[in-house]
Amino acid sequence: MIRSVHRRLATGTAIGIAGLLAAAVPTAAATAGTTNGAGSTASVAAVAAPPDISVTNVKAHLTDLQSIATANGGNRAHGRSGYKASIDFVKAKLDAAGFTTTLQQFTYFGSTGYNLIADWPGGDSNQVLMAGSHLDSVSSGPGMNDNGSGSAAILETALAVSRAQFTPEKHLRFAWWGAEELGLVGSKYYVNSLSSTDRSKVKGYLNFDMIGSPNPGYFVYDDDPTIEQTFKTYFAGIGVPTEIETEGDGRSDHASFKNVGIPVGGLFTGASNTKSSAQATKWGGTAGQAFDRCYHSSCDTTSNISDTALDRNSDAIAYAIWNLSAGTTVPPGGDVYENTTDVTIPDYGSAVTSSVAVSGRTGNAPSTLQVGVNIKHTWRGDLVIDLVAPDGSTYRLKNSSGSDSADDVVATYTVNASSEAANGTWQLKVQDVARYDTGYIDSWKLTF
Ligand code: TRP
Ligand code: ZN
Ligand code: CA
Repeated sequence: MIRSVHRRLATGTAIGIAGLLAAAVPTAAATAGTTNGAGSTASVAAVAAPPDISVTNVKAHLTDLQSIATANGGNRAHGRSGYKASIDFVKAKLDAAGFTTTLQQFTYFGSTGYNLIADWPGGDSNQVLMAGSHLDSVSSGPGMNDNGSGSAAILETALAVSRAQFTPEKHLRFAWWGAEELGLVGSKYYVNSLSSTDRSKVKGYLNFDMIGSPNPGYFVYDDDPTIEQTFKTYFAGIGVPTEIETEGDGRSDHASFKNVGIPVGGLFTGASNTKSSAQATKWGGTAGQAFDRCYHSSCDTTSNISDTALDRNSDAIAYAIWNLSAGTTVPPGGDVYENTTDVTIPDYGSAVTSSVAVSGRTGNAPSTLQVGVNIKHTWRGDLVIDLVAPDGSTYRLKNSSGSDSADDVVATYTVNASSEAANGTWQLKVQDVARYDTGYIDSWKLTF
């Protein structure tokens, strides 16, 4: 039996509070919202469209970093002249773009090291979103993929923030770390230099270390779920499959933040590990060869870069920064259509649906249609969930994931349903695609 209820919520009613970082991602056709344990609904605000980062500009920064290495003995390593020249180069660009820059000095192994911190003025100083990359190379080479790539990509993203005169809800801070190659020295120094109050204001740290590997994979760090989902949503939107990063968790500067409890995430295209044939099938490139054959070598030059990987990852960085900094807003309230009848989801079986009938509205559904899903399940990674519009169009809300062993799906997804007529029968379609674990649709609702 279908029992649809239709109730009006007072405009401006706050339905709930989002987690640390609200996923506010209305640009893709269907995007994951914020899951929170309490089962309340997190809502999102419309976000200014993230810019397409110019890979030409990113490569121009890399060429400048290569020239710096060439002019300074072939590297940009901690304690060498090429490192300080790299810092000065990045700082000058940011100063000219209106950032407030701070050069933080430390001493390691008898040499002075530097972190560069660049704050974009504005935003809520109690909610800071950071993005960082290590700027040092090893002494054996110029470090173009490791890590000119991340350094140049976040530089160009920062310059795009300035060009857009972006006004995020959160405060944005970019960082270029020293002496990562000697043991995450600069980022540890920075985290230790923050008071516990200032640390607690950092709501997320995004790390980019090696994002232009010449035989690339597309790896997303498996850390904070909201950050991870934001990157996955971006790559899903451009049709590029991703995998979880497994080439050494803790081997870059995000570990310094993670160790003090700050939510982290990031992207990586692979170092000395070998690309499998399955990976070559999905990503192209060469199976049986390292993702980066020049890792930590003198051949890590501007020739050691996949432009495609650098381009995709740079765009993903801007997408994540735009969306994760938008902040949490009070949901607008609206008309709620709900079905609370339980529907059993057969184990490894065909899809089941649950319907809600919408009538009496005019025009199309909103671009921020909220789909609240409450499914009880013993292994939610088994589940694929779609919203089906009255005309049969489907919007993917959630894919399956063999590694997501958590229980239950309690989430609100934001769907751009503006091309769909509002009136008619909407369905939630759920399929269990893997054996052993089972569950049922407890309830679901649409908020117009
Ligand atoms: N940070 C390492 C380096 O600079 C590279 C690396 C290896 C890495 N495994 C990683 C970076 C995993 C990020 C994630 O030499
Ligand atoms: Zn590195
Ligand atoms: Ca199952």
